[in-house]
Amino acid sequence: MSTASAHPAGNGPVGVGIIGAGTISNEYLDNLTRFPDVTVHAIGDIFPEAAKAQADKYKIDAHGGVDAVLQHPDVELVVNLTIPAAHVEVATAALRAGKHVWSEKPFSLDRPSGIQLLKEAESSGLRLGCAPDTFLGAGLQTARRMIENGDIGTPLTALTLMQSPGPESWHPNPAFLFAEGAGPLFDIGPYYLTTLVQTFGPIAKVAAMGNKSRTQRTIGSGPKAGEVFDVTAPTHVSALAEFESGAASQSVLSFDSPLPRAGFVEVTGTEATMSFPDPNMFTGQIKIHRLGSDDWVTVDATGAESGRGTGALEMARAIRSGEPHRAPGTLAYHVLDAMVSVNESLQSSEFIDVESTTEPVRPLPETWDPFAATV
Ligand SMILES: NC(=O)c1ccc[n+]([C@@H]2O[C@H](COP(=O)([O-])OP(=O)(O)OC[C@H]3O[C@@H](n4cnc5c(N)ncnc54)[C@H](O)[C@@H]3O)[C@@H](O)[C@H]2O)c1
Repeated sequence: MSTASAHPAGNGPVGVGIIGAGTISNEYLDNLTRFPDVTVHAIGDIFPEAAKAQADKYKIDAHGGVDAVLQHPDVELVVNLTIPAAHVEVATAALRAGKHVWSEKPFSLDRPSGIQLLKEAESSGLRLGCAPDTFLGAGLQTARRMIENGDIGTPLTALTLMQSPGPESWHPNPAFLFAEGAGPLFDIGPYYLTTLVQTFGPIAKVAAMGNKSRTQRTIGSGPKAGEVFDVTAPTHVSALAEFESGAASQSVLSFDSPLPRAGFVEVTGTEATMSFPDPNMFTGQIKIHRLGSDDWVTVDATGAESGRGTGALEMARAIRSGEPHRAPGTLAYHVLDAMVSVNESLQSSEFIDVESTTEPVRPLPETWDPFAATV
């Protein structure tokens, strides 16, 4: 993907507009309104009253529908926090309005629209970045630095587990999390698969089994509590991945477990096994169990703590500096391609080759500080 900007190089904070004023916009706005290198100028939603509520809460000047963001002259970067089914449509509209785009995951719901989006960004010379950005947090960056320092020898295998009863108990609007483009595979899988790709490199092939325990679920919180909705996505997925490097991983992603067990990532190398922080979090401890030892050794994460919005900030700084950004659309598309392949394997019971690949991402310097003013 091109790293050139259609905007003049510019100086000072990068102008940001948010599209999608729902649940996760709170965490994004908590952070983006405190990072000195970006300024949030506008927020839009298909429900303009939702945008107004967030504009009032976070003191954002402009609010309204999607056009309140796309037509705002000071918005250089659109942060797309809509539901998965709208990600490509909103990202495409933003690129066509001449804006760089940071999108929430998943990148797209299918390969053709994902490839089209990559092409759209490439031909416009605009940046495309995509969540998850948790791998840029202090926890996973510390784990990465330790592995690159040789702390576990050569990384060979991984085991990851994410099990919960499902998000319908706490999310006020959870139906989309059980529809096409979500379920534990597409909703939570990006955190685990991105972490694995950061550790082992691109995925070469996958195989999976899974099922759906219930056809309907009930909303557990908020104004719609008690409403029943249909479940259309698989709610338990057990996946194997082989990486181009020859490494192998096995992962459980489940919304069907009375036992909650999230954030389990163990990477085993020739010299030690490392337990990573939760890949859905920006920090956490690392544990390492060395060959011949009886104990785990705990290591604290080093580097600045931040939260969602870090990837958009990192991309905003890259827009100013001209450097490549670290969570590009090409990485997110590879993870999407792997998830679509897992879904295909669920149907066919065959191994599926993952056609796309992705370039290695440079680690963040330990001194990287989201709260510093650098542009
Ligand atoms: N909720 C979380 O904890 C969480 C965490 C990480 C990532 N995410 C991701 O963030 C995204 C949003 O999740 P959420 O939980 O905030 O959902 P949500 O339903 O609470 O909010 C989505 C918002 O987008 C708006 N919207 C939908 N389609 C639109 C369109 N075409 N144009 C403009 N606005 C539109 C909706 O009106 C709504 O206000 C999803 O991709 C999700 O995977 C959510």
